[in-house]
Amino acid sequence: MDRTFDGAGTRVADLDRLREEIADSFDEELELSMDEETLDAMPHGGGGEGMLDRRFYFRELFRLQRELVRLQDWIQAKGLKVVVLFEGRDSAGKGGAIKRITQRLNPRVCRVVALPAPSARERSQWYFQRYIAHLPAAGEMVLFDRSWYNRAGVERVMGFCTEAEVEEFFRSVPDFERMLVRSGTILIKYWFSITDAEQQFRFSMRIEDPLKRWKLSPMDVESRRRWEDYTRAKEAMLQRTHIPEARWWVVAADDKKRARLNCIHHLLSQVPYGDVEQAPVSLPPREHRPDYVRHPV
Ligand code: ADP
Ligand code: AMP
Ligand code: MLT
Repeated sequence: MDRTFDGAGTRVADLDRLREEIADSFDEELELSMDEETLDAMPHGGGGEGMLDRRFYFRELFRLQRELVRLQDWIQAKGLKVVVLFEGRDSAGKGGAIKRITQRLNPRVCRVVALPAPSARERSQWYFQRYIAHLPAAGEMVLFDRSWYNRAGVERVMGFCTEAEVEEFFRSVPDFERMLVRSGTILIKYWFSITDAEQQFRFSMRIEDPLKRWKLSPMDVESRRRWEDYTRAKEAMLQRTHIPEARWWVVAADDKKRARLNCIHHLLSQVPYGDVEQAPVSLPPREHRPDYVRHPV
């Protein structure tokens, strides 16, 4: 970067840097939109029912993301503790919605927890123990990409736990969640709902796209076969864990873009927030340094 040695050169270098910054953030949008576009452009089995206009989607998403930033400032300023659970069948679009929520937020305020299958050690602990470690402190929002509800879903259907453990889970979870809420945590639970045909379609896309194949786990393939078991498990779960202190919200998720917008819009409605007074910021002039520090060889 020897151009920075003369005055005019400095401006050229700064402009290059600025262009790089803009291109960088543009690329992130492009990458995401490309991903969606290719999927949305595919004809569905049921025929082309009203697709969301792409420009409308982006405009609306950006508006909601600006609101999320206001919510984040509020959470931080007021020391709120927020927990949002994302549940749903494989490929329901939980991950994509979470990505759009976190995209413009500070990862120290809003973070994602996506735990792997429990280790032998964790399996020997109290079931809720490994989740508790990730709950928020004041000024934090934690998004759970799958949660303690694994016990009532994948673990039950795939036989990773006993029916007695499932029953114990159903007995514990309302108490557990009431304790969370009483201790001042805002708890919001989403179930992303997709149809049989839509899951079939998404899985077949994953098989054919080399960039998406990694998303298709052996668990996913098996879940196709056990669609009916999952339906029974889902119904039992929603029925037995829908409590006034922590109710379930079902997100219609066959249309990914609508699902994201609806979910974010709803999330914003669940936490009353306002504007945080921002002290004006101006950048201080840099401190004087000896010449050899300013221009290291
Ligand atoms: P994802 O759909 O989140 O990408 P998978 O489809 O591979 O991941 O697994 C679904 C869920 O099942 C994950 O939350 C994972 O932790 C859980 N899981 C996988 N194997 C086991 C197991 N042996 N015991 C308990 N949970 C498991
Ligand atoms: P079954 O055919 O009844 O043995 O159950 C098939 C799968 O569904 C097993 O993995 C069970 O854990 C699960 N299952 C059993 N009973 C229920 C139920 N009432 N609701 C939801 N899932 C269940
Ligand atoms: C989702 O989209 O719901 C998640 O990515 C889960 C999955 O990959 O199946």
